[in-house]
Amino acid sequence: MDVAAGPGATARLFAADYDVTVDGVELGEAGVRRARALTAEAGLAAKVRFHVGDAERIPLPAGVFDAAVRECAFCTFPDKTATAGEFARVLRPGGRVGITDVTVAEGGLPKELTTLAAWVACIADARPLAEYAAILDRTRVAHDPHRGPRRGFAADDRRDRARLRLLRMTAPERLCEVGVDVGAVSSYLALAKQAVADGQLGYALLVAQKPS
Ligand SMILES: C[S@@+](CC[C@H](N)C(=O)[O-])C[C@H]1O[C@@H](n2cnc3c(N)ncnc32)[C@H](O)[C@@H]1O
Repeated sequence: MDVAAGPGATARLFAADYDVTVDGVELGEAGVRRARALTAEAGLAAKVRFHVGDAERIPLPAGVFDAAVRECAFCTFPDKTATAGEFARVLRPGGRVGITDVTVAEGGLPKELTTLAAWVACIADARPLAEYAAILDRTRVAHDPHRGPRRGFAADDRRDRARLRLLRMTAPERLCEVGVDVGAVSSYLALAKQAVADGQLGYALLVAQKPS
């Protein structure tokens, strides 16, 4: 299962590279339509299905999945404990969790990086690595210190630029309506890059397992 599947790149990658079937769950209906179209184009529709659903209430049965992944979305969830609990619910005993996400140093981010625009850029509610691990440990999946966390990954310049282009092209009026200053996103990205260079922002992989 891939939660917060977006346009489905991660789900398709797993299906193609590991010969598994994947259920993707995504909050946005438009995102799900796009994910389905891209997956059909890639010839993977028999192996990857997408469902509209909230990570806090995953519309799939309990105890059936071998593995659950979440790529770059934990940091955006308002109730991280609820979404971790849902991971535990849908996994079979012994099932594994893999999460990659933005991390912040202990003590959090500078105030300028906690705005709504920074939220759009996926960093405002990122947490220290130890806090993500503690959230997993509080659910019935135990964080596995031998297989993670791994630190690393500098901010991806190309991804940042593409996201910024997309924001400018697709929805500036709607973003303005909800209070996001699109023009300011470039300066947030510059601040974020500095935070990466200063070691305040990072990226990590966490692996966890539901007890057998
Ligand atoms: C960075 S994208 C994930 C990209 C995806 N892993 C891929 O490979 O294409 C994050 C996604 O999380 C979705 N999302 C945010 N909150 C969510 C929630 N509560 N439940 C499900 N999906 C959510 C967003 O709509 C967005 O598509």
